[in-house]
Amino acid sequence: MKRSTIIAPSLLSADFANLAAEIRDVEEAGADWIHLDVMDGHFVPNLTFGPPVIARLRPLTRLPFDVHLMIAEPDRYIDDFVEAGADILTVHAETCPHLHRTVQRIKGRGIKVGVAVNPATPPEAVKWVIGEVDLVLVMTVNPGFAAQRFIPEAVGKIPLIRKWAQSNPGVLVEVDGGIGPETAAVATAAGADVLVAGSAVFGRPDRRQALSDIRKAAAHISSV
Ligand code: DX5
Ligand code: ZN
Repeated sequence: MKRSTIIAPSLLSADFANLAAEIRDVEEAGADWIHLDVMDGHFVPNLTFGPPVIARLRPLTRLPFDVHLMIAEPDRYIDDFVEAGADILTVHAETCPHLHRTVQRIKGRGIKVGVAVNPATPPEAVKWVIGEVDLVLVMTVNPGFAAQRFIPEAVGKIPLIRKWAQSNPGVLVEVDGGIGPETAAVATAAGADVLVAGSAVFGRPDRRQALSDIRKAAAHISSV
């Protein structure tokens, strides 16, 4: 049976002056996870926030914190993000020369671990760690900014990742970038379990409606 789709609104598109209210609003509107984009101005051409902000937000909601690290040398900060309250910590394969070691370090701290790949990164980058991870994040834009155009070719990696994950059937495949009611079905039809949505949720005044539109589109996987 198809697992129900998890929707993770990305705070990158929220009002940074009112993060507490924004989190409560999407929680009440039915969000499943909160997605937190950490950028370092080095791996990606933008800067956001880090562990101190996440630690302050953590007590405000019971929803899982899905922390997406778009930073160079993520190993240096694993402990800080675990202590700040990350439930899932995702690193980019492009930033980890010793990916197994990084994955094991995160798992060793007792939280869930994800590995992300940019649109032009071959899915083979996750193939040899697939048995060790809880989540694979397939980027459907080049990371760094919200509200960019969805790159449909990227979802072509998902069936391969699923095939390689047969020994680890619980692994979740997440997509991030350009997801909204128009693109959600393409992602779920390819096999995505988790949809990250920034501008398609926080860019609309009625977050309940926004989430419901994405959820409805995600469920109509046969219409594409
Ligand atoms: C992009 C971030 C995304 C971003 C998505 O680098 O990883 O999580 O917030 O924003 P939308 O959904 O607007 O493309
Ligand atoms: Zn993200």
